[in-house]
Amino acid sequence: MTAVTNTVSTAGAVAFTVPPFAAGARDAALRVLDSGWVTTGPECAAFEAELSAYLGQPHVVTVASCTQAIELSLRALRLDPGAPVLTPSLTFSGAVAAIVHAGYRPVLVDIDETTLTPNPRTVAAAVRRAGRPAAMVSCDLGGYPVDHAALAEAAGLPYRRMVVDAAHGPGGDVGRTRAATAPYATCLSFYATKNLPIGEGGAVLTHDGDVAGALRAARLHGMTRDAWRRYLPGGSWRYDVEEVGFKANLTDLSAAIGRAQLDALPGWQARRAELVARYDAALRGAVRAGVVTLPSRHPGHAFHLYQVRIPRRDAVSDGLTEHGVGTSVHFIPVHHLRGYARLFDADELCTRACPTRPWTASSSGSPTCSRPLSRRPRRLTC
Ligand SMILES: Cc1ncc(COP(=O)(O)O)c(C=O)c1O
Repeated sequence: MTAVTNTVSTAGAVAFTVPPFAAGARDAALRVLDSGWVTTGPECAAFEAELSAYLGQPHVVTVASCTQAIELSLRALRLDPGAPVLTPSLTFSGAVAAIVHAGYRPVLVDIDETTLTPNPRTVAAAVRRAGRPAAMVSCDLGGYPVDHAALAEAAGLPYRRMVVDAAHGPGGDVGRTRAATAPYATCLSFYATKNLPIGEGGAVLTHDGDVAGALRAARLHGMTRDAWRRYLPGGSWRYDVEEVGFKANLTDLSAAIGRAQLDALPGWQARRAELVARYDAALRGAVRAGVVTLPSRHPGHAFHLYQVRIPRRDAVSDGLTEHGVGTSVHFIPVHHLRGYARLFDADELCTRACPTRPWTASSSGSPTCSRPLSRRPRRLTC
């Protein structure tokens, strides 16, 4: 076997993000490797129960990614093929891909400049332009706890047609839920850069036991009994497939690491809040002078990203790179990505619903720039 160099390198650099791993994560992984069962099984069930308790949500179904979580949740709504689904223009493209793969038509909604997320006014404007939607995928960009119920109302949608993309959400403090959720489906990501990183993985939170049951089957080929329950001592090999499903399950290996990570999450969130306070203090003068604009905050923010709006974003970002400080852009507006531009150009309704504000009009994306907010932020050594 040849060795792979995978250290995120450069001495003295501050990486944009380095996934933290809890003290117990390594032991958790070894426990699963030694157990004889590595795919979806008891660790996934335990992770689901622990997430459910932490987030105050009745049902949690783990899946392979947040993108899959959004797609499966949308499919479970059983909308007509091509049904219009609202989603922010400033979001991760994977969320829009999920709408397309579910067989529906994404309709982009402009965002509020102060929060970088849609507000009831921009949602209503999209509905006026594109007509009544069948559902919406709303996103807590950066960890901002969006009022999803207000957006559903502005869209004329029943709340159970709202799918929340909470990839940036967990770790906030929204009442009991520690993330802004909606009752039908709230989708989490455990991707490497997220507040609760595993590497890859996702979950759907739902208040509806029938939806949870349907998602549990859909994530694993539509089988009525998963492999763990078939191979348990005394289990039966028999199963049926009531509906054609997907291969979107989480492994026990990932779930065991996720459980250790969940224990550490409150401490990491406290550290994020400290770093946010330090950035705020350091930037106070620049904000007062109008050079830097910060998106507005709301109690319960999950501090996934520290976003700043600056006039010469690319020059500042390049300068920080020269000084060994990593930054990122969240996000390039979806309609500026070539594959999506083609899709929207081909669809009159989508094009008309696209935002027209000058500050989302640059082909390199919105002039926001995200600063490192990983736990330390860590100085990396080779
Ligand atoms: C806002 C948002 N939604 C969805 C996703 C997709 O998450 P995953 O990689 O778990 O599919 C991401 C990932 O970067 C994201 O940032």
